[in-house]
Amino acid sequence: MASRAKLCILFSVLYILHLNFCHGQNAVKAGYWFPDSGIEIPDIDSTLFTHLFCAFADLDSQTKNVTISSSNTSPFSQFTKTVQLKNPSVKTLLSIGGGNANKSAFSSMASQSTSRKSFIDSSINVARTNGFYGLDLDWEYPQSASDMTNLGNLLDEWQAAVSSEAKNSGNPQLILTAAVSYSSKVDGLYQYPIPSISRSLDWINLMAYDFYAPDRSNFTNCHAVLYDPSGQASGSSGVAAWRKAGVAAKKLVLGFPFYGYGWLLVNANNHGLLAPANGPAGPDNGAKRYKDIRDFIAQTRGTVVVYNSTVVCNYCYAGTTWIGYDDNQTVATKVSFAKQNGLLGYFAWHIGADNNWTLSRQATQAWGA
Ligand SMILES: *[C@@H]1O[C@H](CO)[C@@H](O)[C@H](O)[C@H]1NC(C)=O
Ligand SMILES: *[C@@H]1O[C@H](CO)[C@@H](O)[C@H](O)[C@H]1NC(C)=O
Ligand SMILES: *[C@@H]1O[C@H](CO)[C@@H](O)[C@H](O)[C@H]1NC(C)=O
Ligand SMILES: *[C@@H]1O[C@H](CO)[C@@H](O)[C@H](O)[C@H]1NC(C)=O
Ligand SMILES: *[C@@H]1O[C@H](CO)[C@@H](O)[C@H](O)[C@H]1NC(C)=O
Ligand SMILES: *[C@@H]1O[C@H](CO)[C@@H](O)[C@H](O)[C@H]1NC(C)=O
Repeated sequence: MASRAKLCILFSVLYILHLNFCHGQNAVKAGYWFPDSGIEIPDIDSTLFTHLFCAFADLDSQTKNVTISSSNTSPFSQFTKTVQLKNPSVKTLLSIGGGNANKSAFSSMASQSTSRKSFIDSSINVARTNGFYGLDLDWEYPQSASDMTNLGNLLDEWQAAVSSEAKNSGNPQLILTAAVSYSSKVDGLYQYPIPSISRSLDWINLMAYDFYAPDRSNFTNCHAVLYDPSGQASGSSGVAAWRKAGVAAKKLVLGFPFYGYGWLLVNANNHGLLAPANGPAGPDNGAKRYKDIRDFIAQTRGTVVVYNSTVVCNYCYAGTTWIGYDDNQTVATKVSFAKQNGLLGYFAWHIGADNNWTLSRQATQAWGA
């Protein structure tokens, strides 16, 4: 019995050591910021985050160098020192690319070792010159099997380069991340390079949103559901796909949106999920920041707000306007899901859309210490 007790203690100690030291990274509570997003850098409440992503640096399609556009040079160079005034331990990453970037430039850059080297060397240079702690690749999206192979080479070479740069400079090694599809295959077809992601990135940001939008569906829906009983796109199915493909839970960071989409109902009395609709309510394909949705709810008499715990989303409707979005309960449930499933953390796109930091605060409270 005595030796069994000792063995038990030994295993408990090993277990605690494993939890504390095997995964070099503590929880990630992150958000993206970009210029003209509705908040200035000095107004960011960085105490609510462990990591902040500054978006976006560009890929020059000619030189294959990472550059910062002239209008962003000054804000980006001030980003890290400014957000660290309120939270000296917050880590900043420079995000490269984004949804509006030139996909073929990424594809072309990744296809040749000389252009991958231009990308890698210039990215490190730009990160160091501007005081960032890491780099985030936001290639939306690789579109073929060869893109995925080339992406794997890029990530492995990038990791080797930041490692040797850290040894030569004596600085802490740059963090490397990527924003990726919610699921491990883009469009259900092209599998991400799983081994390279696992060995060469600190983590990946799963963009678990934009599953539906008014220009693609004439039925109301929440664009970032956590569950979908009918088996279509959902945050939980994306996490399961990445896990099944072989990526450790501790490499996964779950994304949720601080924006929603508005649809125009065909019939004001038919206002549930999957109700017939006639395209977007409002400009920008009906996209609305959380703060504008809260204003709409406050200012529109008779607005009804619903939380659906089966799919995990909020929606509200008034007259023929229907908006699906993430409110307090949705965010808290997603954060708990991420924590309970052993994920590394969560991120929000984007922090300028929050309403006086209520969702950001809700998220960090839901994760706990
Ligand atoms: C996008 O990138 C491709 C490949 O590098 C390039 O040929 C094309 O000119 C770029 N398009 C724009 C609009 O810059
Ligand atoms: C590309 O970036 C590298 C590394 O930062 C730099 O040495 C080189 O001059 C840049 N090339 C161009 C054309 O800007
Ligand atoms: C949605 O309905 C509008 C108006 O009836 C129509 O113009 C549009 O093509 C429909 N969109 C889709 C994705 O079916
Ligand atoms: C929540 O959404 C699901 C899926 O659309 C639906 O079947 C269910 O009835 C909804 N629950 C409530 C309480 O509205
Ligand atoms: C914003 O939130 C803070 C802290 O919760 C609160 O003190 C303040 O009154 C809020 N401001 C507005 C405009 O709601
Ligand atoms: C969300 O939660 C915050 C507290 O974390 C609270 O102040 C706010 O009123 C809540 N908002 C809604 C819409 O429930």
